[in-house]
Amino acid sequence: MRLILVGPPGAGKGTQAVLLASHYNIPHISTGDIFRANLKGGTELGTLAKSYMDKGELVPDTVTNEMVKDRLNQDDLANGFLLDGFPRNVFQAEVLRAILAEKHTSLDAVLELSIDDQEIISRISGRRTCRNCGATFHTVNAPSKVEGVCDNCQGELYQREDDKAEVIQRRLEVYSEQTKPIIAFYRGEGLLISIMALGEVSEISQRSIAALSAVIS
Ligand code: AP5
Repeated sequence: MRLILVGPPGAGKGTQAVLLASHYNIPHISTGDIFRANLKGGTELGTLAKSYMDKGELVPDTVTNEMVKDRLNQDDLANGFLLDGFPRNVFQAEVLRAILAEKHTSLDAVLELSIDDQEIISRISGRRTCRNCGATFHTVNAPSKVEGVCDNCQGELYQREDDKAEVIQRRLEVYSEQTKPIIAFYRGEGLLISIMALGEVSEISQRSIAALSAVIS
């Protein structure tokens, strides 16, 4: 199973990716998480990525593509992978196709999570992320048991810099201008499956698995 999750910021890609990766027993590769892990580790890549992420802009393609290529060359991908947050423009989609072609393989499906702007703002503004393990919660929809404390590892929960109101707007513009064109790209390749991402988290994952099982044997 080689799968991509695509959708606007806050659509629930990270939330669904964890469930789908576990269901299909494949690694979840999130470029946003890799950048945040680098930032936490104080690497040069993390510092560079932060300067773009905090403004809601994409990290330059050269850096991102190289990072993804390295990750796809690791040897834990025998069962496939679930990419979350990559590709984010048509150039990255073309680079991904070339990386996979070099390995004599290709994608099985691209799952689009559709959601309206009002729900996006509500989901993003209430999101809290664990500084330690990266797990996400929501102040209303999915609160942690103890306010400000991660249920999984007791790490501190914080609001991402790019989840603040002034940055959300720019992230939505970037999605619309740069990322949305990959939907048409993958529709053209016959790989696109779209589902409505409104409802309970478990309902959405069931909807996703049902939609994927219709196209993947
Ligand atoms: P990234 O981390 O990928 O952010 P994103 O795509 O904007 O997605 P989010 O993490 O904001 O949202 P999500 O869809 O995962 O939603 P979640 O499940 O958390 O990227 C961040 C930045 O990194 C980019 O802006 C860019 O700068 C850089 N970057 C990353 N990849 C790049 C690339 N390929 N090229 C260049 N730059 C790149 O859910 C959101 C909230 O809603 C949570 O609180 C959750 O609890 C809640 N929620 C989830 N599902 C539901 C539901 N069904 N009902 C109610 N609430 C729900």
